Amino acid sequence: MTNAMYTLPKAELHLHIEGTLEPEMVFALAERNGMELPFASVDDIRSRLDFTSLQPFLDLYFECGAVLRTQQDFHDLAAAYLTRAHEQGLRHVEMFFDPQGHTARGVPVDAVIDGLLSALAEAHEEWGITGGLIMCFLRDLPVESAFALLDSVAHRVDDLIGVGLDSTEVGYPPELFEQVYAHARGLGLHAVAHAGEEGGPEYVSGSLDLLKVERVDHGIRSLEDPELVERLRAAQVPMTVCPLSTVRLAGVPTMADHPLPRMIEAGLLVTINSDDPSYFGGYVGDNYLAIQQTFGYDNLAMAGFALNSVTASFASDARKDELR
Ligand code: ADE
Ligand code: ZN
Repeated sequence: MTNAMYTLPKAELHLHIEGTLEPEMVFALAERNGMELPFASVDDIRSRLDFTSLQPFLDLYFECGAVLRTQQDFHDLAAAYLTRAHEQGLRHVEMFFDPQGHTARGVPVDAVIDGLLSALAEAHEEWGITGGLIMCFLRDLPVESAFALLDSVAHRVDDLIGVGLDSTEVGYPPELFEQVYAHARGLGLHAVAHAGEEGGPEYVSGSLDLLKVERVDHGIRSLEDPELVERLRAAQVPMTVCPLSTVRLAGVPTMADHPLPRMIEAGLLVTINSDDPSYFGGYVGDNYLAIQQTFGYDNLAMAGFALNSVTASFASDARKDELR
């Protein structure tokens, strides 16, 4: 891994920690936790990664994620990811996690948070990696569940960077979560949301207007609304684009069809991220490499994406200065 795309110092801002669960770890954790799996083998899981849209991916993601049971499991998951993150040049990581997927199985939210935080603390100690946790609400669950989750962590908001919104997008618009986000922002949390991944540009404008998000996750369908593009450009709202994810989820037929070049030409502040790397065929450096190979960006342009990732992060100004 000596390619410059792996050594370029960068931040990752769109990474679901459950989406780093490699098939080998699915089997190891199932064994440790005494669980039967609905999969015959590691290869059986790998044979299911040819998704036609977001939903079939989410179904598999939650099925595999069911092996995560204990604080140790969450620690081990994040530690494995952070080792790869270090190998791919990451210096700062803002990690999404989906507590409602775990509390529904009886896992205490504190076990999830403590497991993830312990791995982040070790990565800081060992490699100087900074970052933290962004707690996501599953948008296809009732809003009351999101409120209950937020209440359950209100005593430890200092352990979180912010809140996000993920899972099935279409049919679950941002307006549903206006009050939850107001409450979260009132607690001092940053706000981001998936928008315009499969949903239209109105999901992006709704997230800006109602949820007051500071970054848009994916946001690729924003391009369908020129006024929205101008708004995103003028305010330099960061977009966390995940190229391999969009191809795997059939948002575009091939990488060459990805709207990334049009987003850049429009003057948007674009960052490159991996989303769910164990499901989409690559970690963050692999995403950098894929777009460089497809679009022919030179190393200076690629360093621009890395710089954007630092600018768009929620790191302190002092840490941003260090990272630039
Ligand atoms: N949860 C994990 N990955 C996701 C994605 N790409 N979109 C929406 N929800 C997700
Ligand atoms: Zn995502």
